[in-house]
Amino acid sequence: MSVHNEVKRVTTHTLQSMKVHGEKISMLTAYDYSMARILDDAGIDVLLVGDSASNVMAGHETTLPITLDQMIYHAQSVIRACQRCLVIVDLPFGSYQGNSKEALNSAIRIMKESGAHGVKLEGGEEVAESIKRIVSAGVPVMGHLGLTPQSIYKFGTYTVRAKEENEAQKLREDALKLQELGCFGVVLEKIPAKLAKEVTESISIPTIGIGAGKHCDGQVLVIHDMLGINKGFKPRFLRQYSNLNQLMNAAFKSYIADVKAKNFPNDTEQY
Ligand code: KIV
Repeated sequence: MSVHNEVKRVTTHTLQSMKVHGEKISMLTAYDYSMARILDDAGIDVLLVGDSASNVMAGHETTLPITLDQMIYHAQSVIRACQRCLVIVDLPFGSYQGNSKEALNSAIRIMKESGAHGVKLEGGEEVAESIKRIVSAGVPVMGHLGLTPQSIYKFGTYTVRAKEENEAQKLREDALKLQELGCFGVVLEKIPAKLAKEVTESISIPTIGIGAGKHCDGQVLVIHDMLGINKGFKPRFLRQYSNLNQLMNAAFKSYIADVKAKNFPNDTEQY
């Protein structure tokens, strides 16, 4: 008799089959054990340990400062919580660009030290050598095109990408290149819905959109954004499923008031 639970793990092949059968893929970010446990129990298909941890967990303005060690720490916490979902980890800025051997070492460290199921990296043709080397080592790779936050200082703003034809054409070519290199999927961030539809229909690997419209094969959001934890962050593409900022603020205020008023703990809450 098996000692393992009979939970069927989502794999990159499951995602491929979901695309073929028209079943949409649900993906959210996660950075810690407790949140990942709730997400896995809820039935999320994919968890992304995103380098957005740099913003929402560490409070940096951009994703650039987060290190490979820090990404591995977050990934280890998430992996411990997940029985069913596929867990993908972002390769952080500076750990894969320009040197494919270093890229492979970074990916191997993530896989070995966290137990994650694959990695994600940003860019197309420019990072082809890195993708080729990582894929050839048997590590599943997800691409990321459109608004790639690690290049924010090149773009200058977080506005919609690929509105102009030359950038749109490069994105179409990059998407095909990622497929050719063996990526199992690609995130399309903040691009026109029409272009995302075109790309989704032109490649056989799944596209996961964030601000890229309804035609992508799946959707991803940053968990803090969809839970309404970040007050005031309300871009057009974001649907807030809760207002945790308000709910948590009210809970914290009640606690503070109870402590100040000597209402907590009461007689039944002590030994
Ligand atoms: O780091 C992240 O959260 C991401 C998503 C926005 C796709 O890359």
